[in-house]
Amino acid sequence: MEVIIQADSEQASLLAARLVSRIIKEKEKPVIGLATGSTPLLLYRFLVKMHREEGLDFSRSITFNLDEYVGLAPEHPASFHHFMWKNLFSQVNIKPENVHIPDGLASDMEAYCRQYEEDIKAAGGLDIQILGLGTDGHIGFNEPSSSLSSDTRIKTLTDQTRKDNAIFFEAEENVPYHAITMGIGTILQARICLLMAFGKKKARAVSRAVEGPVTSMVPASALQLHPRAIMLLDKEAAFKLDQIDYYHWAYEHKPEWQKF
Ligand code: GLP
Repeated sequence: MEVIIQADSEQASLLAARLVSRIIKEKEKPVIGLATGSTPLLLYRFLVKMHREEGLDFSRSITFNLDEYVGLAPEHPASFHHFMWKNLFSQVNIKPENVHIPDGLASDMEAYCRQYEEDIKAAGGLDIQILGLGTDGHIGFNEPSSSLSSDTRIKTLTDQTRKDNAIFFEAEENVPYHAITMGIGTILQARICLLMAFGKKKARAVSRAVEGPVTSMVPASALQLHPRAIMLLDKEAAFKLDQIDYYHWAYEHKPEWQKF
């Protein structure tokens, strides 16, 4: 794992935007895995800015989102469809047919989830997967106890996750109990995994994911098994880590060719 600690979420998000934009520029058909939640908002703002001011071209990009609530229509204001179109897709030149977000209303969920996996493979696999982090250590909606080799499927949300995400709904009781999510196995197949975590409330999950044992009880700890997992943190999210000095030193002494 590469642990990068930045002073604040703005600097961390700018770094993330630089890495994503490099992939978008370099690849003939970039395949980008995207996340929702408050964490990637600044990253999306920077990507939109790069599109407007530097002509970052999304026309060849193919995107796959991690997850969606079961039972929410795409136009529901708390759906991840709505979130993605509002915060990124409507503001860049991506082709709508290249956007993939799980369908929370699919009638045959099992077949739909299998197809989602097939579509990722057919696109050539994910070049990068952007990830946030749940306070309970989840990635996507892979809650604690998720199989570390799971595929796209339906998961039941924990009480904690429903509480954390209630801010996007009018009331906590409106938060769905189920979601479709890429599995941990799906995520681990991405060529690069970029997890971002900001703020004190993520510090415990970050320390368990980075420095704790690999366990399905902390799904993000599975990233320790990935050959190119980057944990991009602000100071507050990193404050419980034991090896902070080492992570800073390693980042500051990175060889030039490894920098982004
Ligand atoms: C949700 C999403 C995750 C996200 C997490 C953290 O549960 N399914 O993909 O990482 O929330 O959200 P936030 O970034 O708002 O803290």
